[in-house]
Amino acid sequence: MTIGTILISLLAPIIAYIFYWVYENLITAQWNPLHQIGGPPVPGWFKNHLYPVLEPSISPKVYEMFVKKYGRSIRIRGVGPWDERLLTLDPISVAHVLKNSTIYEKPWQSRRLITSLIGCGMLSAEGQIHRRQRRVATPAFSIQNLRTLVPLVFRKGSELKDRWMNMIIDAPKADNDSNAPLSIDVCHWVSRATFDVIGLAGFGYEFNAIKDETNELFCAYKEMFEVSISQGKITRTMMNIYLPFVSSLFPDKSMRTVQRCQQVIHRVAGQLIQENKRKISDAEKTGSPFLGRDLLSLLMKSNVATDLPAKDRISDEDILNNINTFMFAGSDTSSLTLTWTLLLLAENPDIQMRLRSELLSIAPASAGGLESLTEEETRSLYDSIANMPLLNNVCRESLRLVPPVHSSIRVATQDDVIPTSYPVHKRNGMVHEGRRSVTVPKGSFVHVAVEGFNLDKGIWGEDAWSFK
Ligand code: HEM
Ligand SMILES: *[C@@H]1O[C@H](CO)[C@@H](O)[C@H](O)[C@H]1NC(C)=O
Ligand SMILES: *[C@@H]1O[C@H](CO)[C@@H](O)[C@H](O)[C@H]1NC(C)=O
Repeated sequence: MTIGTILISLLAPIIAYIFYWVYENLITAQWNPLHQIGGPPVPGWFKNHLYPVLEPSISPKVYEMFVKKYGRSIRIRGVGPWDERLLTLDPISVAHVLKNSTIYEKPWQSRRLITSLIGCGMLSAEGQIHRRQRRVATPAFSIQNLRTLVPLVFRKGSELKDRWMNMIIDAPKADNDSNAPLSIDVCHWVSRATFDVIGLAGFGYEFNAIKDETNELFCAYKEMFEVSISQGKITRTMMNIYLPFVSSLFPDKSMRTVQRCQQVIHRVAGQLIQENKRKISDAEKTGSPFLGRDLLSLLMKSNVATDLPAKDRISDEDILNNINTFMFAGSDTSSLTLTWTLLLLAENPDIQMRLRSELLSIAPASAGGLESLTEEETRSLYDSIANMPLLNNVCRESLRLVPPVHSSIRVATQDDVIPTSYPVHKRNGMVHEGRRSVTVPKGSFVHVAVEGFNLDKGIWGEDAWSFK
């Protein structure tokens, strides 16, 4: 080793630091207008604010502190010094970003991760492809169509109730002190029931997951989603995003699991699509109406509607991707909401009692319970339920306090000026009274803090963090 190399290796960190300092303080500061607005200091070299902003156990306190110190348009640091982001808790800014879906897209990084799991459905598509999928799917989500799905939701609700009742009846009696009291894992059971509902409502498929957890398609989805939310190695996730080709050459254990699940889904759900297709064309030939009421049938019907130009139709593969998307987007969101609502009610027994009497006041009198209702009676029961004031408030309040989608991210596909309703703070902490906008360069990430807004004391008052 020559003196030169020794010197260089000693100096390397110093040189790197100088480059970093120049980059941080001169280059980005010069070029990135986001650098000019207030935000928390970066805690060190290549440190970022992603953990405090995205981790639900601390994020409400973090947002509160940010708003006090830096206002409602906050500069935060993403993965590196080149990645200055906007975290906005300003209602006008959020409306601007979410309504401008041509300028603000979902970042390709998250779209790639979602696509690798469930294919390119409505959650990950953008632009023309997204518009085409939305157009075909929208009629299926009309309020009239959703209403026809209500009886099956009732049916699954009673099935779960019966299951729990039987567990309670069969449980060892309290006088047998050698046994622990019965405990029911509500989260797990509600998730099984939610899968059942989405299977039937989504594509007319019976998982029978309240009964047992053996259905092949159920297991495939369940396992695939579990792998996807379990926190794997960060380096592996990075490789899956930035070097998917290398990743697929060297699949790790969870990747092989996902591939195995995808094969099952492809086979079973693919069959379902073919069956539906056949039924729709049979119905057309015989002139009798096709009665499938699930989202898949409705989506496939609107996809072959004669007034839909051929270029606007979606392929069988896209249909499969959207089945996967319904499962992915609909199952955890709904089951977590239900579980949290039950917990919040248990913690607030007075509200639980009032809700219970509100619901009992419209419960069907007939001995057979919900199953024995006629179609007409079910519809009118649904109308009564939809108009229960306390039930409505409980659902909204629970979704506010514990939103199942904590936050989302958009990326600016061009330079833009985002309007704000509150003054913007300058980098040095001064409030820029007259300024009501933030300039973001193309490529900037914007954090849309769903939970941040929901728990904002500036909007809801000092009791924003309690269930009221
Ligand atoms: C409590 C229940 C639910 C909540 C809180 C919820 C919340 C959300 C949120 C916040 C988004 C936007 C995500 C983003 O832009 O980053 C979204 C998108 C979506 N959700 Fe849900 N969701 C729920 C249930 C469902 C169900 C049951 C389904 C389907 C059966 C579903 C299907 C979708 C689809 C397809 C999208 C993408 C829409 C598009 O990009 O055009 N969701 N959901
Ligand atoms: C979308 O963004 C453009 C450019 O910033 C703006 O002029 C327009 O008003 C925005 N549209 C909405 C609906 O916010
Ligand atoms: C009481 O506990 C014992 C031991 O676990 C069990 O064998 C027995 O069946 C239980 N009795 C009842 C009434 O559940």
